Amino acid sequence: MMGKVVSAYLKKNVKMAAEILKKGGLVVFPTETVYGLGANALDPQAVSKIFDVKKRPRFDPLIVHLARVEEAKKYVTQWPPLAEKLSQAFWPGPLTLVLYKNQIIPSIVTAGLPTVALRVPSHPIARSLLEEAGVPIAAPSANPFGFLSPTQTKHVAETIGKKVDLVLEAGPTPLGLESTVISLIERKPKILRLGSLSLEEIKKLFPEVEIAESEQIVSPGQLRKHYATHTPLKIFRGQAVKEKNAALLAFSEKPKTSVFKEIKILSPKKDLKEAAANFFSFLYELDQKNYQAIYVEPVPEEGLGRAIMDRIKRASYEERE
Ligand code: TXA
Ligand code: MG
Repeated sequence: MMGKVVSAYLKKNVKMAAEILKKGGLVVFPTETVYGLGANALDPQAVSKIFDVKKRPRFDPLIVHLARVEEAKKYVTQWPPLAEKLSQAFWPGPLTLVLYKNQIIPSIVTAGLPTVALRVPSHPIARSLLEEAGVPIAAPSANPFGFLSPTQTKHVAETIGKKVDLVLEAGPTPLGLESTVISLIERKPKILRLGSLSLEEIKKLFPEVEIAESEQIVSPGQLRKHYATHTPLKIFRGQAVKEKNAALLAFSEKPKTSVFKEIKILSPKKDLKEAAANFFSFLYELDQKNYQAIYVEPVPEEGLGRAIMDRIKRASYEERE
């Protein structure tokens, strides 16, 4: 494998990526949320390479990306009325629906589960890649398992990028947090992972949807230690900072006095959307600089702030293990 990086905005490169997928190769491609590590979802051998390249445990199922909303029904045994309504409301977009799968979806894609996670992305490059390939694309976020999700191709260059056949470069992904995952397999619809589609947006139209509060791991993106940096990460609540060489990721302003070597501001105008878009890339940047610790200030737990706080808690050093 070579790991070539090419511009996604040349049609011939998207065509080349589609050919690679059809032949069983791996392609890193942009979606509106984060970059994905894609393989033909109907080719079990190709899908198996995703797990190897990411060092992802085989019990952690993948999302299957589709070109069109109507396609979803081809891969499930049940399409409940709420699936119809949610997909009409939010697809194409950052929503993933978990439904009972049929036999067309190979079991390696779903880690042996009877259910499959489906999503129709809205990013124009993801959509044209899906159209060109003519097959559904299984794709997790394009990071080594347990680490930060990539929102730019430079985040994959040293890791996943070296182990794939092609990287489609299309600049920073606009939303910056992964899709929101909703399971429709039980009597009550449950949010398994909060992401770029906020709880408020969902509740406005579908008040019956609740956040899953299950003890057991229903969605391995919900593993406690996840989205981790290499540098120890701590939540900053104004405590004394022991490290001489530490950085701060703040929400909207610098603290009045500070011992930090560097401070990055997620959104000077206190906009959670902007904060979400910057979150992983700012953390990547700080993680590159070998600080002794990265402190992260909590963000308001409303709208996209909930999904950001979920990532902060899972990545933070104190909460590990
Ligand atoms: O925005 C996104 O969702 C990105 C882009 C590339 O689409 N993808 C992504 O994939 O974040 P990944 O693999 O990093 O996260 C998928 C999440 C995991 O938490 C996984 O456990 C959950 O979806 N998932 C997948 N299939 C599932 C299933 N059948 N039942 C429950 N959870 C499932
Ligand atoms: Mg991931």
